[in-house]
Amino acid sequence: MSGFASSLIQWQKAHGRHDLPWQDSRDPYAVWLSEIMLQQTQVSSVIPYYQRFLASFPDIAALAAATQDEVLAHWSGLGYYSRARNLHRAAQQVVERHGGIFPRDFEQILALPGIGRSTAAAISAFSFGVRRAILDGNVKRVLARYCAVEGHPGQKGVEALLWQHAEALLPQQGIEAYTQGLMDLGATVCSRSRPRCGECPVGRDCLAHHQGRQNELPSPRPR
Ligand code: ADE
Repeated sequence: MSGFASSLIQWQKAHGRHDLPWQDSRDPYAVWLSEIMLQQTQVSSVIPYYQRFLASFPDIAALAAATQDEVLAHWSGLGYYSRARNLHRAAQQVVERHGGIFPRDFEQILALPGIGRSTAAAISAFSFGVRRAILDGNVKRVLARYCAVEGHPGQKGVEALLWQHAEALLPQQGIEAYTQGLMDLGATVCSRSRPRCGECPVGRDCLAHHQGRQNELPSPRPR
């Protein structure tokens, strides 16, 4: 296993977040819902919405059978309402195409509305223990620093290189703790401004830290 992965897994077990309500579920529906809510919204804001949503729509069939207005009412205040519309449409597709059972196949997950490559990977890792790389905004920052990747991560070539690093660093075992650790590191220690490199489990091998460039990477959007 890469030093990066083993250090991150150890750190997640000791210092990562363990008390998030979606962490005690391997139900792909609950994991999926949490990942969609967390795409553009902070953990603390998501928690009450997540709990109310699951209480009203406890499974995919219940969500698929609801009206769009009912679904949107439960999203009211979270913002980015296309997330709710896509979630609702996706639940209906799961009922129509997969007999109401959330698919395990990566390409089938990816084909659902509102689920991109990173979200499909997070769902696969957390609900099925499948070894897949994630690359959301926070993870792009972590990897751009750790591997000293130049260029704005929004550029296609830079993003492609970050995906390669994300794949190469994956552990053979422990994908759940690894994936959660990567998210937690990006959300806490490896913050956008003022990263706390002294507290970082992978700081020893971080190229940006070595070069004293943690405040320059990832590169800003070119203008
Ligand atoms: N952001 C996106 N997915 C997350 C998760 N599973 N836990 C915490 N923050 C996240």
